[in-house]
Order: sequence, then structure tokens, then C-alpha cells
Amino acid sequence: MTVRKIQQVIQGQPASDGAGVKLIRSLGSADHLRLDPFLMLDAFSSENPDDYVAGFPSHPHRGFETVTYLLDGHMLHEDHLGNRGNLKSGAVQWMTAGRGIIHSEMPQQENGRMRGFQLWINLPAKEKMKPAGYRDIQAAEIPEVSFASGSLKIISGIYNGTAAPVQGGSTEPIYWDVSLKRNGKFKSEIPGTHNVYVYPFEGSIEIGDRVLKMHQGGVLGSGAKIEVKAGADGARFLVLAAKPLKEPVVQYGPFVMNTREEIEQAIRDYQSGELTKAA
Ligand code: CO
Repeated sequence: MTVRKIQQVIQGQPASDGAGVKLIRSLGSADHLRLDPFLMLDAFSSENPDDYVAGFPSHPHRGFETVTYLLDGHMLHEDHLGNRGNLKSGAVQWMTAGRGIIHSEMPQQENGRMRGFQLWINLPAKEKMKPAGYRDIQAAEIPEVSFASGSLKIISGIYNGTAAPVQGGSTEPIYWDVSLKRNGKFKSEIPGTHNVYVYPFEGSIEIGDRVLKMHQGGVLGSGAKIEVKAGADGARFLVLAAKPLKEPVVQYGPFVMNTREEIEQAIRDYQSGELTKAA
């Protein structure tokens, strides 16, 4: 079986979103830096409340899913459907914007570390207008599997027979958080149908003869296996994989559709209140 090699490195870029939350954006930092079906990956990590306390006040989405994984901290999600979710350290929020959602994500702490990720996963054209949905997954619900040189948390998909609470939709997303001891190795099969992105956020990793440092994402080439080795300080990294949609992507801020007309419709629907009316 072919082992996937690094095809492209995407350097995370400092960015600011919401009401001024400081973050590092890798996927999605430019239109050509997406990996179908992943539209965006933001990492946020700060001990300084000025970097996060303003949060993400009320804003809309249409046409895709957002997955928020909080490593440290406490955030409150509220949306127009009446969902209210307290996201605490180690928890995940899986939100399907579908035809439309308006939500806020606000820190519930005034000091201490806030650290986590938000991933945007595109929906196929036929599912973009499905009803909005929302799910909280508490830290205790996320399976953790240990192996000789580390461990991994399964946020989505299946690893070695252990399934996450969320299996995702038609793109069959895999979302793993892998921790490796110093010089530890991680090997896994991964479906050949999937695009794969690897993102180290502690330490550094080697894939083949390439090294990825913290916040350098690696787009992997084709193959059926991945092999990752940690550097001398150990490592922690995300493995994100999913089936590509191979459909046109037209994005305008928080709306991601297939055509410009559909984006114009989304803007009109947001302005008129149709965005969040039941289909
Ligand atoms: Co949002």
C-alpha cells in the first residue's frame, strides 16, 4: 500500500475574525488554499483575554458545516433555533448551517487559556439547503485510543474499529487529534478516496523526508496509508480527511454556495429574514 507523501505545505497565517478574535488560519487563508471539501481551518490559542474575549457575536452561515473543537476554555453557543450549548475543554460542536443559521459563539471566561479549532466542511450542492442542525459532543463522549507511542481522540470517523459519535455526512469526514511521544510513530490506513490534511499544533512531525513545524499544514498526496513521526519534543497534530465534492465553490464570507446567483440569493434571504425560516 502506498504511503501518502507531503504534496503541499500551507503555512498558517495570523488573522482576526468575529469581533477581533486573534487566530491562525491555514486552510482558507486564500481561495486557492482550500482542500476539497475543507474550506477553512482556524486555530486559536491565547492566554491573553484581549485576543479572544470579544468572541463571535451573532452572524449567519449557509451552505456548509462548522466543527468547533475546544482544547481549553469555555464558550457558549446560541442560535436562532433556540440551541444553547456550553462548550468546555475537550468538547466539540458540530453545526450544520444548511439553508441558514444565525448563531453566536462567546467566551465564558475572562482569563486563562482559550485554545481550539474551527473547521469548515463543505456540503454537496444537493445538501446545501437542508435544514440547519446542531450537536454538542461532550469531552467524555469522544473515544480515546492508546497505542505504543501515543494516543488519539476520534472526533469524527473510525480509527481501527473505534467509531466517533459523529460519522459526518456524504464526505465521510475523519477528524483525529493525535498525540505522540518524542520520536513516536503513528501509522494508519486511511481511505484512498479521501483528501488528507495534517496539522501539527504542538512540537513538530516528519512525513517522509519532510518536516512540518507547528501551524504548518501538510496536504498529502494519494495513497492508502499515512505514517507520521514526531520530532524530539513529541507532537500533537490533527488528521483531517474527507471525500472531495469536486463541485464549484463560490464563497462570500459566511455563505458558501456553488454559483454567484446562489450567493446573491443568500444575501437577500439574510436581509429579508428568509435565511432562518423553515424550508
Ligand atoms: Co459561525
